[in-house]
Amino acid sequence: MAGIYIHIPFCRKFCNYCDFYHIIPDSDNQTFINAILKEAEIRQDYLGKENIKTIYFGGGTPSILSVKELGIILGSLKKLFKVDEDNEITIELNPDDVTTDYMKGLKDLNINRVSVGIQSWSDKDLKMLNRRHSSIQGETAIKEVFKAGFENVAIDLIYGIPGMSLSNWEYNLDTSFAFDIKHFSAYHLTVEPGTVLGKMKEKGMLQEVDEEESAAQFNMLIEKSESKGFIQYEISNFGKTGFFSSHNSNYWKQVSYIGLGPSAHSFNGYSRQWNVRNLKKYISCLKNGKSFFEWEELDLKTRFNEYIMTSLRTMWGIDLEFVEKTFEKEGYDYVINMAGKFRNYGLMQIDKKNLVLTNQGKMISDNIISEFMMPSDK
Ligand SMILES: C[S@@+](CC[C@H](N)C(=O)[O-])C[C@H]1O[C@@H](n2cnc3c(N)ncnc32)[C@H](O)[C@@H]1O
Ligand code: SF4
Repeated sequence: MAGIYIHIPFCRKFCNYCDFYHIIPDSDNQTFINAILKEAEIRQDYLGKENIKTIYFGGGTPSILSVKELGIILGSLKKLFKVDEDNEITIELNPDDVTTDYMKGLKDLNINRVSVGIQSWSDKDLKMLNRRHSSIQGETAIKEVFKAGFENVAIDLIYGIPGMSLSNWEYNLDTSFAFDIKHFSAYHLTVEPGTVLGKMKEKGMLQEVDEEESAAQFNMLIEKSESKGFIQYEISNFGKTGFFSSHNSNYWKQVSYIGLGPSAHSFNGYSRQWNVRNLKKYISCLKNGKSFFEWEELDLKTRFNEYIMTSLRTMWGIDLEFVEKTFEKEGYDYVINMAGKFRNYGLMQIDKKNLVLTNQGKMISDNIISEFMMPSDK
């Protein structure tokens, strides 16, 4: 079982916080699509003979592509890879791209999961983030998605936005829960260096929310989502039973995936590789048969650290049997020893044979994970 990620790097407008690889689209989607298909063709053996269970169009803005263009990509992938009948095919949608015809077209392509980038239901926040859409457009988009008959509907939200109060965040959650969404991701705003917000921060022009407010918003997120029947299966991801994102869960469970497109990452259990973060270079390398990616083989320590980093963020936590089997006694003893300290502080607990973060631990997950990393000389 494996997954395919396709990175569509185009955005019509750049959000103030975003560090994902994105560029303004030109009119020539076909050259880009040809490059994606060429990459798929030359890398069709990357995952061995594994069946493909999930396909994910992410970005950037995948909904910039027309239904026909998405259909060409999907059709080729289905020819090159063994895609399971029982699959999950997701597309990220920017609200301003959603129309009745577009959604009908996606349904006809058998895309069965959509993730709408709502981010906030407040026009003040959307302006602060420099989003293209308004709250009304967000609402219209969600309604169109349901009208087209999609059931597996997810949205993205951001909290901890400068100027966002606890009651603003409560409004965003309540407004989201008024729709029959089955999944949502809620990310605390990260101010990334090099972005507009990052530059404002450097100049001392950004009033970030303080730690107390961030913690209050995170607590509210946990309480409200639980009361509405959502399960926090990863620190930033919440789903109703049966509607967790299989594609993203597989990243966290170390399942292999191939990433196509500029800046996309791939993982096959033993190595990671990442494509060049530049569309022109990506296209020209593929055209001229030159290398378009870098890669690293993962030694046991790196695999251990990656496992800890991803598993600790999930509700399944660190599987002690898996650790003993894969990382042997040294890895197992290391985990037990580290966990002792965090358990004493009530930040971690043992659930059956798994070590998981408590709600208190989730609040400082980044600190716990970085302390858990096995140093390179061990
Ligand atoms: C890169 S976007 C792609 C999806 C789509 N283009 C959109 O904007 O809706 C994926 C998600 O990552 C989240 N995200 C990206 N950068 C972030 C940041 N600096 N802080 C918090 N969330 C972020 C946003 O919620 C966004 O919906
Ligand atoms: S958040 Fe989405 S729409 Fe905004 S710049 Fe990033 S990828 Fe583009």
